[in-house]
Amino acid sequence: MNYYVLSLFPDMIESCMKTSITGRAMEQGYITLNSINIRDYSRRKHNQVDDYPYGGGAGMVMQAEPICLALDAVNEMTKSRARVVYMTPQGKTFDQNIAKELANEEDLILLCGHYEGIDERVIESRVTDCISIGDYVLTGGELPALVVMDAVSRMVPGVLSNKESGTDESFEGGLLEYPQYTRPEEYDGMKVPEILLSGHHANIEKWRHEQALLRTAKWRPDLLENADLTEEEKKFLAEFLEKNTCY
Ligand code: ADE
Repeated sequence: MNYYVLSLFPDMIESCMKTSITGRAMEQGYITLNSINIRDYSRRKHNQVDDYPYGGGAGMVMQAEPICLALDAVNEMTKSRARVVYMTPQGKTFDQNIAKELANEEDLILLCGHYEGIDERVIESRVTDCISIGDYVLTGGELPALVVMDAVSRMVPGVLSNKESGTDESFEGGLLEYPQYTRPEEYDGMKVPEILLSGHHANIEKWRHEQALLRTAKWRPDLLENADLTEEEKKFLAEFLEKNTCY
């Protein structure tokens, strides 16, 4: 996976990506990062990249030219025509399925805006995907691009070790993950559930699955609407909810 990030703050992208698992993945060559400063493609005095919006209104808009010149330079670097993902609160809300889909790409170009956004003509002519990381407005697209790269990188084969990669993790199978515990067996008067100490793998699996169902029902009931629950799972949840008004 080769990332090309177009931004006004390339240091922010680089320092974050160098950290932890994405940093290791870069060292091992599973992912590469090319962060490009859009300002380097300005042809104006003081490398300016923004201007007042036509029609008036608050703030400044990033101009089309430096972004398009930066995109031209990136297209020269990529083998194929890579997808150009613009980070914007107006985009499709990012989720695990989009992360998986993007992880299949060889090259990904991420475009980070600032100020009041970018000239619409860039979006019309160059952008293939608009992605939002949620219904709130950030000061720029850098944090969203980092969120997307982090989630996508975990899906790239080899990035996570066998120990780290989980088929049990949240959103796999449409459910949240079951609760996890580690040593000590008792902390501050709170005990690890007995079943996890039993060594009985089948019972542990069953308990974990039930916990995942309950946790999803409690915290993200919207996920259950789309989950393909078996009759047995539905019965388990209905019985539990009947017995417990509070969980
Ligand atoms: N840029 C500013 N806010 C954003 C958001 N919520 N998602 C993606 N890009 C953004």
